[in-house]
Amino acid sequence: MSGERVNVGIIGGGLMGREIAAALRRWPALVDHPADPQLVAVCDINPAALEWFERIDTVRLTTTDHRELLADPDIDLVYIAVRHDLHEQLYVDTIRAGKALLAEKPFGIDRAAADAIMAAIDETPGAFVRVSSEMPFFPGAQWAIDYVRSGALGRIIEAKCTFLHASDLDTAKPLNWKRQKRFCGEAGVLNDLGMHTWHVPLRLGWAPERVMGVLQDIVTERPGPDGDLLPCDTWDNAVIHSWSFHEGAPFPLATETKRIAPGEKNTWEFEAIGMNGGVRFSTKNPKQVQVFAVVDVPGIGREQSWQVIDAGSQSVWPTVTGPNFESGFSDAILQMWAAFLAERAGALGDRFGTVRPEEAALTHRIFAAAIAAHESGSFVRPEV
Ligand SMILES: NC(=O)c1ccc[n+]([C@@H]2O[C@H](COP(=O)([O-])OP(=O)(O)OC[C@H]3O[C@@H](n4cnc5c(N)ncnc54)[C@H](O)[C@@H]3O)[C@@H](O)[C@H]2O)c1
Repeated sequence: MSGERVNVGIIGGGLMGREIAAALRRWPALVDHPADPQLVAVCDINPAALEWFERIDTVRLTTTDHRELLADPDIDLVYIAVRHDLHEQLYVDTIRAGKALLAEKPFGIDRAAADAIMAAIDETPGAFVRVSSEMPFFPGAQWAIDYVRSGALGRIIEAKCTFLHASDLDTAKPLNWKRQKRFCGEAGVLNDLGMHTWHVPLRLGWAPERVMGVLQDIVTERPGPDGDLLPCDTWDNAVIHSWSFHEGAPFPLATETKRIAPGEKNTWEFEAIGMNGGVRFSTKNPKQVQVFAVVDVPGIGREQSWQVIDAGSQSVWPTVTGPNFESGFSDAILQMWAAFLAERAGALGDRFGTVRPEEAALTHRIFAAAIAAHESGSFVRPEV
């Protein structure tokens, strides 16, 4: 079965723009998907960035002006991957142009920007907007989410979601837009990595009731373009301790986002521990899910046991890949797009979906509360 053609435009042809262009070329890996996306247009203010896209023969429009791309009536859907201070304008323009949008996190530079994007969605009949967060589409993450949903954990004792990087341990790493408040936002690393740690908790219904932030700005200067040291004024590491509820019972929920976690390269982890069972998944060991259970050992009796299950290759949408094979980052990106376009086509059913705009807007309230709590030293309730 071949799905319905969806003409895609990308705005921002940098790191993520290229990743998505590559993912769309792998679409035949999906089995019986309702959509058939084709990249037809790319916009980047830097003409050099556009050159990379010449290798993709379906691209018929390259431009340095996003308004030209949005004015093209044949483009159905736009993916935008630009600096955080540009999100609000470009997202609002795209929604108002009547295009479906897969937005990048953090969905505007702050709460006010997220609210302005939400207002544009509310004012545009038929608007379809979702936000990128691919790590939960690893098969092991899906396994863990399903296990929590099955009720096997019983009363939840605690849960944690973590996203860790370490490249900023190198103090000689040059300053870029992601390390400057005016481009990245007041929330710093929370804007960069926070959505990845809240997607699963929020989808499980674990919106925090109150939060405490523990934030660090560890490297305060970095070399600028001419080698002189310039201010690097964003939070590097942020831990949010919060109280949340599962089936009416309170439990501590922690999220960790770190640019300086020595040894870690894009490590996403989810853990939920309950009275009857537990589950842990880390992209560090992407094949494996750890499951806790109390087991009967013949001749010994009941023992508490962590066991390991290989998750295989299958995630939200079936693929031609053998189920025993391994999955990786680019597979998670493909699965996120499969979920996004299936939801747009009304075919996602009860499968796990991409971040909804209201969840993304809530993350800005959580981040603002965490920063306020860090400053005051007391727990703060996120605004609703
Ligand atoms: N989902 C993920 O795993 C993930 C990973 C990295 C970054 N991101 C997010 O993706 C977004 C972009 O990050 P990136 O790493 O790709 O950045 P990048 O700096 O590599 O690329 C951004 C591109 O946008 C272009 N650009 C700037 N202004 C523009 C404009 N007005 N119109 C068109 N193009 C413009 C730049 O020239 C550049 O090529 C950010 O929101 C970031 O948080 C997501």
